[in-house]
Amino acid sequence: MNLTLMAAADLEWGIGAAGALPWHVPEDLKHFKARTMGKTVVMGRRTVDTLPSSLPGRRILTLTRHPRGSDETHLPGLLGHVAGTEDEVIVAGGGEVYSLLLPYCTRAEITRIKGVYPCDTHLVDLSKHGWTLIGSEPLSEISNIEQWTRA
Ligand SMILES: NC(=O)c1ccc[n+]([C@@H]2O[C@H](COP(=O)([O-])OP(=O)(O)OC[C@H]3O[C@@H](n4cnc5c(N)ncnc54)[C@H](OP(=O)(O)O)[C@@H]3O)[C@@H](O)[C@H]2O)c1
Repeated sequence: MNLTLMAAADLEWGIGAAGALPWHVPEDLKHFKARTMGKTVVMGRRTVDTLPSSLPGRRILTLTRHPRGSDETHLPGLLGHVAGTEDEVIVAGGGEVYSLLLPYCTRAEITRIKGVYPCDTHLVDLSKHGWTLIGSEPLSEISNIEQWTRA
């Protein structure tokens, strides 16, 4: 399966607070846009509900237990879709969806926000779940992009 997890996380793996991102890092939003352009992006229904608008140039697949239209899917539907394509599919949150889909992901790209923010939603510490950090490069003054792979 060509499934990549993409997330922005603080130094304690915090990813969200009160349904939003706790930081504003324009460079990361730009990076996310460029990295996902032309791809299928999977998001949990709660994260999709927070989007101000659709994301042009990307197909958003909403993971929900109650799929209605063609852009909403349950887990078996999503796994069938990913198994049926060699194209990279991006898992873009939020917390529940990261936990659910992490076992199926082969790569993770983490924008590391260099601070600790008050968060109510976290990603697991990948280093404690069989993943290895293989690279890190600066994105902005307060963030790096980390590449992770399964150990
Ligand atoms: N830092 C980042 O990179 C990043 C990225 C994205 C989001 N976030 C943050 O994450 C937070 C939202 O995360 P969240 O955990 O509350 O919600 P979420 O993961 O975005 O969505 C949860 C929803 O996904 C669906 N779902 C969960 N498990 C499922 C399963 N087994 N089968 C089918 N559907 C399933 C359910 O939808 P239904 O209720 O419709 O069934 C559930 O309510 C926000 O604070 C957001 O800002 C951060």
